[in-house]
Amino acid sequence: MKEIKVKITEDKEYKVCIEKGILINLGEHLSKTIENKRIIIITNPLVNCFYGVKLLSSLKKGGFNLDLIDLIEIPDGEKYKSLSTAKYLYDELLKRKADRTTTLIALGGGVIGDLTGFVAATYMRGLPLVHIPTTLLAQVDSSIGGKVAVDHPLAKNIIGSFYQPKAVYTDPEVLQTLSDKDIKNGIVEAIKIAVIKSPAFFKWLEKNINRLFKKHRDLLCELVKEAVSLKVDIVLKDPRERGLRKVLNFGHSIGHALEVEAGYQDLSHGEAVALGMLIETKIARNRGMCSEEFEVQIKQILSFLPSSLLSSSAASSSQSLPFPSLPSPPAPLPFPHPSLSFPR
Ligand SMILES: NC(=O)c1ccc[n+]([C@@H]2O[C@H](COP(=O)([O-])OP(=O)(O)OC[C@H]3O[C@@H](n4cnc5c(N)ncnc54)[C@H](O)[C@@H]3O)[C@@H](O)[C@H]2O)c1
Ligand SMILES: [Zn+2]
Repeated sequence: MKEIKVKITEDKEYKVCIEKGILINLGEHLSKTIENKRIIIITNPLVNCFYGVKLLSSLKKGGFNLDLIDLIEIPDGEKYKSLSTAKYLYDELLKRKADRTTTLIALGGGVIGDLTGFVAATYMRGLPLVHIPTTLLAQVDSSIGGKVAVDHPLAKNIIGSFYQPKAVYTDPEVLQTLSDKDIKNGIVEAIKIAVIKSPAFFKWLEKNINRLFKKHRDLLCELVKEAVSLKVDIVLKDPRERGLRKVLNFGHSIGHALEVEAGYQDLSHGEAVALGMLIETKIARNRGMCSEEFEVQIKQILSFLPSSLLSSSAASSSQSLPFPSLPSPPAPLPFPHPSLSFPR
């Protein structure tokens, strides 16, 4: 098993444990990590169908009493990473008498991880949180670094916090059930980190990309370990994104805007980030900030994107952004709001 320590401050540290098949023995690991045995698992119907029973039986094997364990499903999809779903979860936690010693387990992709993390950070000012990321994107990126958030119709990830988990348990075996599209979405975030931090990893991705698409078990495991190590390195130097960590937003400034414009539907986060990387590269190139060689390399490695997306990014990088004319967002409220009076 690969264990990567994330030491955020002198007294705050957690481990990212990566091992093929770790889900089966998770109960044993978890019994050493959390103090109270009361757990609430948050997941969605698809992930529950694949891995819910496996997780519960592994908890039982690890000595947990299943009577103290609840599981809550929320619907699948980015549009449910919202304040209204968070409210639904607060209601459920209250009904189920969750208290500050109740551990929340996020079993799912980045949507479940970000949402559960946000609820864990805010319910009763903080509950213990454990991530079990089940998409490639969540394993290489969203479960690492403590950013938790929900989306707002006008801005992505805008309501959130930094909240570190007690542990992250990553099982690359669960990627075998992932759709081809979601394998690609995860590879996009791996490419992002490679561009930012490791030419050697970029070359490795170029060489192995076709076998990764075919879900080659050992290569996927290697990819997850490398990407996590690279991201942890950056996060440790700047846990609250005051400077250096902003590099991880490569592709995201534009990518997030595209997701908002698409109403968090029809365009996945990975696809939006891929387009964002292409467009941001073009902007950098136009400003003389990156080489032609790099632009060619990034276009080449992202050539697996659907051709409809690629043509829209080519159009947008010269002129307007690619997205269909969607309804205009409501006009922003004046700030400060006229009804607010400030003491002088
Ligand atoms: N917090 C961070 O630092 C950070 C970083 C990157 C991305 N994100 C966020 O992550 C989200 C995207 O995450 P995502 O791409 O994982 O999307 P997702 O969570 O919507 O998962 C994608 C799909 O895969 C399914 N799925 C999950 N695990 C599966 C499995 N093992 N087998 C089969 N199907 C499975 C899900 O049900 C879903 O349909 C975005 O909201 C993005 O903002 C956060
Ligand atoms: Zn991302």
